[in-house]
Amino acid sequence: MSALTVTKAGPKLGARVEGLDLRTMQPDEVRERLVPLLHEYHVLVLPGEILEAQELERFARSWGELLEHPASRVEQTPFVQLIFSEGNDESRLGQWHSDMTWHETPPIITMLQAHVLPFEGGGTGFANQHVAYETLPEDLRSQLDGAKAWNSGKNFGPNMPVTLQPAVRTHDETGRKALFVNPAFTTEIEGLDEAASRDVILRAVQHGTRPEFTYRHQWEVGDLVIWDNRSVMHYPIRDYSERRSLLRAVVAGGVPV
Ligand SMILES: [Fe+2]
Repeated sequence: MSALTVTKAGPKLGARVEGLDLRTMQPDEVRERLVPLLHEYHVLVLPGEILEAQELERFARSWGELLEHPASRVEQTPFVQLIFSEGNDESRLGQWHSDMTWHETPPIITMLQAHVLPFEGGGTGFANQHVAYETLPEDLRSQLDGAKAWNSGKNFGPNMPVTLQPAVRTHDETGRKALFVNPAFTTEIEGLDEAASRDVILRAVQHGTRPEFTYRHQWEVGDLVIWDNRSVMHYPIRDYSERRSLLRAVVAGGVPV
């Protein structure tokens, strides 16, 4: 196996991993070399050559079963989505979120590869939700521990699901707890009245997105970024007006607990 170079990307999360051939990687190599790095750093940046949709799908399948997504999919496969934008559309500002928390079994891992990038901007923010949970003010933590929150997919269409998720999630592989409330999809804390619910969500989100917990990735063409949706929230920074095009695949998980 080739030698890996791992360089920390930010103080609280993120690592750049070099020396891999994504086209030939096998599931056991992913399990032995990349999964432990993902558990340690939560966001991995793998610089490399552009993968075609089916090559990305093959690599993504070495991490587990893939989920489809209602967002625009490529022609070749329902398991790879095209994330494309062109022109400045201020109605589409970004929001912090963990992917698809409205799904009964949201994806545990998302991977995204940059194909076309704007001249400047178009970065992605990541926030470590383990550190967020561990540093919650005591009163807020006691309100969130054991609580459940409604998460809605209605932004994607009227028939999309609304599901109840734990407000604090335990990572099924590391056992570490993480804040699991986001401003894009979390609408209500179960059992609280509307005002109290709004207040708890607002405080949780304000805390969970503190700059101290974040890493901002500035993309290079060919970067494949892999993140753990059980550990981080992310934020697409829409501060550009040129074309931006990326391919995405998401790995299925179980019911969050
Ligand atoms: Fe996302």
